[in-house]
Amino acid sequence: MHEKVAIKLHPIGKTVVVNRGTPLIDVLHEFGVEFPCGGKGTCGSCKVKLVAGELRIDELQQKKIDKLKLGSEWRLTCYCKAETDITLEITQFENIILADNSNFSFHPKQGFGVAVDLGTTTIVSQLVNLENGHVLDSVSELNPQTKYGGDLISRIQSCLDGKQEELQRLVRQKTGEMILSMLQKHPVEVVQVALVGNTVMHHIFSALPVNSLSFYPFHTPHLRTQKFIPEELNWELPEKTEIRFFPSIGSFVGSDILAGIAATRMAENEKYSVLIDLGTNGEIVVGNRDRIVCASTAAGPAFEGARISQGMRATTGAISSVSFEDDKLKTHVIGNVQAKGICGSGLIDIIAVLLNREEIGLFGEINSGADSVQLTKNVSVTQQDIREFQLAKAAIATGVQVLLNQLQITYTNIEYVYIAGGFGNFLNIDNVIRTGLIECETEKIIKFGNTALIGAKMFLFENEDFIENILSKTTHINLESDPDFQDIYIEKMMLS
Ligand code: FES
Repeated sequence: MHEKVAIKLHPIGKTVVVNRGTPLIDVLHEFGVEFPCGGKGTCGSCKVKLVAGELRIDELQQKKIDKLKLGSEWRLTCYCKAETDITLEITQFENIILADNSNFSFHPKQGFGVAVDLGTTTIVSQLVNLENGHVLDSVSELNPQTKYGGDLISRIQSCLDGKQEELQRLVRQKTGEMILSMLQKHPVEVVQVALVGNTVMHHIFSALPVNSLSFYPFHTPHLRTQKFIPEELNWELPEKTEIRFFPSIGSFVGSDILAGIAATRMAENEKYSVLIDLGTNGEIVVGNRDRIVCASTAAGPAFEGARISQGMRATTGAISSVSFEDDKLKTHVIGNVQAKGICGSGLIDIIAVLLNREEIGLFGEINSGADSVQLTKNVSVTQQDIREFQLAKAAIATGVQVLLNQLQITYTNIEYVYIAGGFGNFLNIDNVIRTGLIECETEKIIKFGNTALIGAKMFLFENEDFIENILSKTTHINLESDPDFQDIYIEKMMLS
């Protein structure tokens, strides 16, 4: 049995109990702390203040801290492990933009707002002071609809089977409870709630019919912003609270991606950028201030562990990274516990390792003829898992290629590739490139964290014009209707 230690997080007042020796990245990423440089100690974004307890600093971390000109109370959490009970002050909660330290110029408003990222798997909500942009509290819960299936297709099917009202009730109730739990700790007056999510979540939450999302050409006429009053949602909020579920861009590109476009500021820049969300639906956006094209892919939730025999999300027990050192496979398991399965970043790593060691071929075949590769005592990756990975990576790589073609540009015209999504913190960028998932230079790739939540917070300060401006330059593309789609897809299936 591992000994336990408690990590207290200020100012949100949460305590997390973990096994002694757990790396802080495993704990803090769930609370919105970002690790953009992936623990190289160059960005400083993972810095926290140590308020009580001890967090050892080794020589290397001290050098990085000195270089970043931080005082003795600071720690770079990408280097730290929880060895004793500690209390940390997470200053990242003070910044409205958690990921890139850029100043978000907003017009202060009276009152408080709530931003909600209503994901297929997880719902994340933050309470924001609209006068200064500070985040007072943050909660994350599993979407209770998951009992009706992990992916969007099964949710739509449940709705068609007569369960839509139940799915709607579950998600409205859970979101209302999350907001209430924050307000019980911080009794402030909420004046606005901004919800973002994919189109299926938008429709179910808003009691809009989902049947047109179930058959070709998947066209829905209900993409617009939906407004609510607290009473109709059964939420205990002041009567005048303005509640908006922001508009979708297309049938499978929702307001979570609209929020991502806002968060990355791609609609304002002259240079082109790419946004890839490796979450449940695999959405891609390419564009600049003149024109933006976007699409959803058939990647499915493979990077969240679905259809992978021992796949799981990036939570405690997941193998989040794999490397080959001293003649053997080395794995990192989130939470310093025994491995239960493998998450998306671990899967990308093992494929890259196998490619580098020439243990798999161009078509993903295991060269030895074995039908699986053992990672730990109880976790392995099968030949079928490698096939699933190829399908998902080909879907993403093809999506990007088709959108680049639409704009008549290539990766060389791209300034940045932003990666959104939960497991971004654990991604090894070199391996992302090695597997062909993203085909550009390392320096261009930026892990942006929860772009949907960042954008939802921005929406609390913006008016409809801001949204309309993005929508007016954005076109939703149906990838399969591109004449080159099949050829590109087959080519991208290969591992080279
Ligand atoms: S310094 Fe960049 S992640 Fe820690």
